[in-house]
Amino acid sequence: MNNQFSIGVFDSGFGGLTVFKSITEKLPQYDYIYLGDNARSPYGDHSFETVYQYTLECVEWLFEKGCPLVILACNTASAKALRNIQQLDLPKKYPNHRVLGVIRPTAEIIGNYTQTQQVGVMGTRGTVNSNSYPIEINHFFPEVKVHQQSCPMWVPIIENGEHENEGADYFVNKYLQELLQQSAEIDCILLACTHYPLLIPKIEQYLPKNIQLLAQGDIVANSLVDYLKRHPEMEGQLAKNSKRAFYTSGDVTTFDAHASVFLGQELNSSKM
Ligand code: DGL
Repeated sequence: MNNQFSIGVFDSGFGGLTVFKSITEKLPQYDYIYLGDNARSPYGDHSFETVYQYTLECVEWLFEKGCPLVILACNTASAKALRNIQQLDLPKKYPNHRVLGVIRPTAEIIGNYTQTQQVGVMGTRGTVNSNSYPIEINHFFPEVKVHQQSCPMWVPIIENGEHENEGADYFVNKYLQELLQQSAEIDCILLACTHYPLLIPKIEQYLPKNIQLLAQGDIVANSLVDYLKRHPEMEGQLAKNSKRAFYTSGDVTTFDAHASVFLGQELNSSKM
C-alpha cells in the first residue's frame, strides 16, 4: 500500500490547534496538515449554508494536499457541515476519503461522566442552535438531559488575547451562571468549542467544586486511535515521518503569533 498520505486537521481558525495538540501527542508518528480558515472565521454565527460551503472548500483543499482522512476539529463545522459532507459529497465525489468530526466521539462517552444524568454543554451560537449535542447524546444516553448555553463572547475574548485578563472574568462568570441556573443538578460541563480550553483556569475559578469540566482534545484523540485500529485500509495509507505543516487562509504572521498560544509551541505557517 502507498503510505505517503497525511492526516488533515481543519478548524475555522486557531481553536482546532487544541485538538491538534492532543492528537499529535497521542499519535506522534503520523504526518499532519493543519488548516485554519482564519480569513473567514469565526464560523459561530454563520448560516448552515455558509459553514457547509466554507468547510467543504477547506476539506477539498486538504484532500488535494494528500489527506485521505480529515478531522473537523471545530464544533461549528462538525454541527453544520459534517452530515452533508459525509452523506452527499463523499459518496458522490470522494468514496475513498473520510471526514470525522468532534461531536460524535464526545457524545459517545459523556454519559460516563455524570451521576445526576444532567450535563451542560457550552458552545458557539451555531453549535447550540444546531441542537447537535442533545440529538447525538440522546442516541447514546437517552436518559441524559442536556442543558445548552451559547457563549458568543468567549471566542472573541480568546482571539484577542484577553482570556487571562480581568475583563474575561465577567463573561466567563455570566455564561456559567446562566447555564447553572438551568438546573441545579448539572454535574458535568462540556466545553463544546475548540477555543474554550484556553479559558479553563478562569472557568475553574467560578465553577462549583462538584462539577466536572470536560475538554474535547483527549476525547477526539482517543477516538482517532480507535478509528485507525478499526480501519487498517486507512491507517495503511498514512505516512509515518512525524511531519507537521500548518496553513492558514488568513495572514501568516498573525497566525504564527497567535497559534503558539493554542498549540503551546512556536510554528511557521504557510498561506493556503
Ligand atoms: N472552532 C470553533 C468551534 O469549535 C469556534 C470558533 C468559530 O466560531 O469559528 O466551534
